[in-house]
Amino acid sequence: MKNSKIVGVGHYVPENVVTNHDLEKLMDTSDEWIVERTGIRERRYFDYTKDTCSNMASRATKMALERANVDVNEIDLIVFATITPDYMFPGSGVLMQRELGLDKKAIPAIDIRNACSGFIYALSIADQFIKTGMYKTVAVVGSEIQSSALEFSDRQRHVSVIFGDGAGAMILQATDEPGKGVLSTHMHSDGTFAEELYVKDPGSSRKREERMTHEMLEGLSLRAHMNGNLVFKHAVVRFTEAIMEALTANGKKKEDIDLLVPHQANLRINNFIQQKLELSEDRVYNNIQRYGNTTAATIPISLSEAWAEGKIKDNDLICLAAFGSGFTWASALINW
Ligand code: UT7
Repeated sequence: MKNSKIVGVGHYVPENVVTNHDLEKLMDTSDEWIVERTGIRERRYFDYTKDTCSNMASRATKMALERANVDVNEIDLIVFATITPDYMFPGSGVLMQRELGLDKKAIPAIDIRNACSGFIYALSIADQFIKTGMYKTVAVVGSEIQSSALEFSDRQRHVSVIFGDGAGAMILQATDEPGKGVLSTHMHSDGTFAEELYVKDPGSSRKREERMTHEMLEGLSLRAHMNGNLVFKHAVVRFTEAIMEALTANGKKKEDIDLLVPHQANLRINNFIQQKLELSEDRVYNNIQRYGNTTAATIPISLSEAWAEGKIKDNDLICLAAFGSGFTWASALINW
């Protein structure tokens, strides 16, 4: 059986930096509150004249290909994770396929919408296709444009200060090297909590005349609803479980982790995990301070930056973990 080796990682973030002080001008919030409760200092917002969810992903993919020295035409499959696609349908995967050129190669594109866990779900799917021998080179991406859906109001301030825009990508290739690349992935969900972090409208399961109404524009049902306290409490438990599950499945101990790259939802969550697992600070990668929560893009952006900063080296043991809407949670263990 083949293994999936990570041959390149890349990212793209929009140029426009939005600081906490910028947000203070738009709603009743403060730099002090945001930094203390979330760790975020600034985030990026896209420029609608040039950035789209799919073209940000293709820019991240091109960086990953370049770093891997892999030609774009080698890609056999795209797995695209996002909850903020360009269109309701088709998914952004086909748009990225068009964007990349690919000498008109009609490769498949799969769209994944598991929110914050989306990238690890996408990675798991890519890994299975490589393991079965069906595909040799897979581009796995996470890309989000959150800012165009945010409401800058006091009633939405607990959501609007958190999210940002960006994209990250990973190129996986089949290898015969034993014990190399993705060692395992574990995915979970518990739909009991689906409505604790969700966007309700315009949902399909309602009377036709209620699917889109003028009232929706005034209300909150088009906005993200988040029960932040509850999400936080579940996140700290599930993150730890998912990481331990990954380690146990591979006969590894927490001391063996060279770098933990967690989803970036709240610096307090990540600091809690770091302390719980007794990892030194330099073994947990965080960039939420600069980008906020970019949902499916947080992990590949972090991997791309950590790799460029020399914090990920060949044969390092890298652990990925995520928790979010669904609830869904997941982990991956990688021998880089
Ligand atoms: O990636 C998806 C998964 N999402 C997460 O993992 C998010 C997890 N949850 C969280 O990160 C936190 O719950 C939040 C950052 C969203 C909120 O932090 P919190 O410490 O749980 O705050 P809270 O909701 O309990 O609110 C505490 C106070 C409230 O005021 P009162 O009622 O105590 O007077 C809020 O109204 O903070 C107030 N508040 C704000 N104040 C200033 C809420 N948002 C803001 C804000 N600026 N932006």
